[in-house]
Amino acid sequence: MRRFSDDFPILSQDNNGKRLVYLDNGATTQKPKQVLDAVNRYYLTENANPHRGVYDLAMRATDAHENSRATVAKFIGAPEDSVIFTQNTSEGLNLVAYSYGRAFLKPGDEVLIYVAEHHSNLVPWQWVAKTTGAELKYLYPDANGRLTVEELDAKINERTKVVAVAHVSNVLGLETPVEEIVKRAHAVGAVVVLDIAQSVAHIPLDVVKLDVDFAALSGHKIYAPMGVGALYGKKQLLEKMPPFLSGGDMIAAVHEYRTTYAEAPRKFEAGTRNVGGEVGLAAAMDYVNSVGWDTIVSQEEALIAQALEGMNALPYVQVYGEATAAGRHGVISFNIEDVHPHDVATILDSDGVCIRAGHHCAQPLMEHLGIGSCCRASFALYNTEEDVQALLKGLKHVREVMGLGS
Ligand code: ALA
Repeated sequence: MRRFSDDFPILSQDNNGKRLVYLDNGATTQKPKQVLDAVNRYYLTENANPHRGVYDLAMRATDAHENSRATVAKFIGAPEDSVIFTQNTSEGLNLVAYSYGRAFLKPGDEVLIYVAEHHSNLVPWQWVAKTTGAELKYLYPDANGRLTVEELDAKINERTKVVAVAHVSNVLGLETPVEEIVKRAHAVGAVVVLDIAQSVAHIPLDVVKLDVDFAALSGHKIYAPMGVGALYGKKQLLEKMPPFLSGGDMIAAVHEYRTTYAEAPRKFEAGTRNVGGEVGLAAAMDYVNSVGWDTIVSQEEALIAQALEGMNALPYVQVYGEATAAGRHGVISFNIEDVHPHDVATILDSDGVCIRAGHHCAQPLMEHLGIGSCCRASFALYNTEEDVQALLKGLKHVREVMGLGS
């Protein structure tokens, strides 16, 4: 296995006197030197306000902003003019719900979402359904935690106008059947909104080939800084959508009582942008490309398979979603019998291992699974077999500390 941890300075520190084993990558990833250097370089040599100044430095800042857009677009297979910079996935999904949803949904329409959605692809649709009179409907996973074609066929109908799903659930870690969703949604004239926050760092994807209508991502889950994200939208849809936020830089002309808007994507980019973050996002995508998808996909799959094999051998560990590596990306959620997830995470932390415990911003899924919370170990390209062994050893330690045997 190739090792990348040397590129990530934060990983060389200890955690509670033990080697830091960072397995909370679903929450946020660490940043490689290449990204930190690119952000630093931008602020040291190119910072000015893009699209505003005519002097050379401002032009270079504009180039940094637009070149970053080009890199992000190429990375997800999108045309440049269809990529909007946002703060994060939540902002991208809110933009679609508020702008597209409020403009085009009406009473009698249906919005179909997956019960495993992160709150950011769920709460905005609840709100938009309430304000437009559209009805919110849910897709449910089967007993293996997978969203099936049969479930889609039972729920999509001619009233469906929006289907909003995550490419990979941040809890179940299992890929949803996007091609089948798109085929069925388009057949009834619905748009597909894909949350790619949890897949973008783990699966190569091409939004045009997938033919989704919108796709939202966060930079911080793909080795870039927090506070920057991107939304892809088909240009013909972006053109007919009203602005989400208004103000500086999103206009063509402003008069006392009327305004005309800039073309997309600028129509959706009001105010001064996070150009340092955008540069970091582009550098992160360049970094992922330099590592190569074959390496990322095969190494992460091997680690997940190894972790699952170890967990499946522990009778007191319950994994959520089919406990195989097939179609699973980045995430394993689980509980330990008779131990609260917060105790699991705290004891693992004492062993140097960082995981997330809680409802993972997916409370409807927790209700569906009949649990209040769970533990989640999530992987990135810098994780190693030693990290997996530390996790498995830690799980046995949890049982011992709780006086339940190992
Ligand atoms: N959405 C992030 C997670 O799943 C924060 O942990």
